[in-house]
Amino acid sequence: MTTVRPVLVPDPAVQQADADWWRRAVIYQVYVRSFADGNGDGIGDLTGLRSRLPYLADLGVDALWLNPWYPSPMADGGYDVADYRDIDPAFGTLTEAEALISEAHDLGLRMVIDLVPNHTSDRHAWFQEALRAGPGSAARGRYIFRDGRGADGAQPPNNWRSVFGGPAWTRVVEDDGRPGQWYLHLFAPEQPDVNWDNPEVREEFESILRFWFDRGIDGVRIDVAHSLVKAPGLPDVGTADLEVSGSAANTGHPHWDRDEVHEIYRSWRRVADAYDHGPVFVAEAWTGSPERLARYVREDELHTAFNFDYLTCPWRPDHLRRVIDASLDVLGGVGAPATWVLSNHDVVRHLSRFARPQPDHPLRTLADLSPEENPADVDLGTRRARAAALLMLALPGGAYVYQGEELGLWEVEDLPEDMLQDPIWERSEHTDRGRDGCRVPLPWSGCTTPFGYSPEDTATEPWLPQPEEWKSLTAQAQQGDAQSMLALYRRALRIRRAHSGLRGAGMTWYSSPESQVLSFGRPPGFRCVVNFAEAPVALPEESRVLLSSGPLTDGLLPTDTAVWLAE
Ligand code: GLC
Ligand code: CA
Repeated sequence: MTTVRPVLVPDPAVQQADADWWRRAVIYQVYVRSFADGNGDGIGDLTGLRSRLPYLADLGVDALWLNPWYPSPMADGGYDVADYRDIDPAFGTLTEAEALISEAHDLGLRMVIDLVPNHTSDRHAWFQEALRAGPGSAARGRYIFRDGRGADGAQPPNNWRSVFGGPAWTRVVEDDGRPGQWYLHLFAPEQPDVNWDNPEVREEFESILRFWFDRGIDGVRIDVAHSLVKAPGLPDVGTADLEVSGSAANTGHPHWDRDEVHEIYRSWRRVADAYDHGPVFVAEAWTGSPERLARYVREDELHTAFNFDYLTCPWRPDHLRRVIDASLDVLGGVGAPATWVLSNHDVVRHLSRFARPQPDHPLRTLADLSPEENPADVDLGTRRARAAALLMLALPGGAYVYQGEELGLWEVEDLPEDMLQDPIWERSEHTDRGRDGCRVPLPWSGCTTPFGYSPEDTATEPWLPQPEEWKSLTAQAQQGDAQSMLALYRRALRIRRAHSGLRGAGMTWYSSPESQVLSFGRPPGFRCVVNFAEAPVALPEESRVLLSSGPLTDGLLPTDTAVWLAE
């Protein structure tokens, strides 16, 4: 594999000493399957990731978050876990995972893993046992099995819908060959929900946390953290909420964001706090409001939560400012830092979201963008993505960088239908292409696919095809180019570490709420200005440009451009 340029190694001793690292960390999300393939089977793996650690240290991020790496039938990209204490053979072995953790630590990179507590795989030993053990057994009591409605039990126990489409219940065939009970799955049928009222389930997940904390893991991202507890009696969802997928429109929803879920996280916090290295939690919780989100990060609960209002916010100054203010206000109220994120493995890459006219509503899926009427303008998207990176990295709190955004990758919107793997494609009866377009393997080097993603002489194609145009976006092609997206991220992350203004928790707006310009300061001596207006704007006097997302025109800041200033 081709190697990257000389490494800048942060001093691990200094980093480890900082117990508050998570309050302002930049965490790089690694979608392992698509990051780097070390053994040439077309699937990203731990060997590939280990070989690219110097690239990540050099980029200047503080930690890595890895999507699930456990043994899995991969019905949902590994979010269907068959064994929480091992590594999927396609990715590597537990021994390699341990080597990865220690190599990352040597480079000053902390390691966050993904835990999936709402559901297991249907191949998990517990679920297999539950199927065999039959109705009323202790083994079924670890999941949510119910008899169906109607005289012959042929109707699902309630009206809950799967997030991926269709009913949230599947009927099993009992040992005698007859149709029997139903089990709940808020996601795919291969992802049965576990029963969090069962103390054995609670003990098992705390033991899994300890398993990984004992191996030096620094943090855990909690998958669908807001769904674990279900209302007693499993009542139907009201009509207002049936339309909403993934979060609650109202409080009192029977399975999203129930108050009782917080007791679980108080208990998890006690598990983490018993470790000297202070492991941290980040919640994936889609809630109806910032206030509901803040409840997850109260002092004795989780440390941080993803900011999905920011993730789905259109590129518009009024919307962005509102989300920034609400986040800082509400999270500050419980003493938690804000986090900011532009892309992840579940939404359309932000370059492509911003590459079109910006509506009033949140943007998440391709359908939200009406791609047929509004094809992507990649130059516009790139320009805005550069400005968006500087805006995000200038805000107080932590930030997430999704692999490939530092290369300026776009959503691959035209993957051949027969290659789509996301269960959403099938479950939506081919009306929603799903999330594969942001999961395409990274381009590292060279002029032809697989662009250094797999070793040079590999015959096997990457698991999803890469666009040919990505040859100009490989990490190698951007190395020496001062104008590249990669160079912008590197410089921004270096300044972010070095500038004392970027370390504090506060910010002050200098622009008015109605303005087409976002301008704010971070004392001492730092200012960020982003221009959303058509016309270029003047920069404040007596300021010096530290970094700019695009060229200034006659000293003015053009449209869709951001600048970092020292004052
Ligand atoms: C989370 C994950 C997503 C997965 C789902 C079910 O939303 O981010 O990728 O499909 O949970 O586990
Ligand atoms: Ca591989």
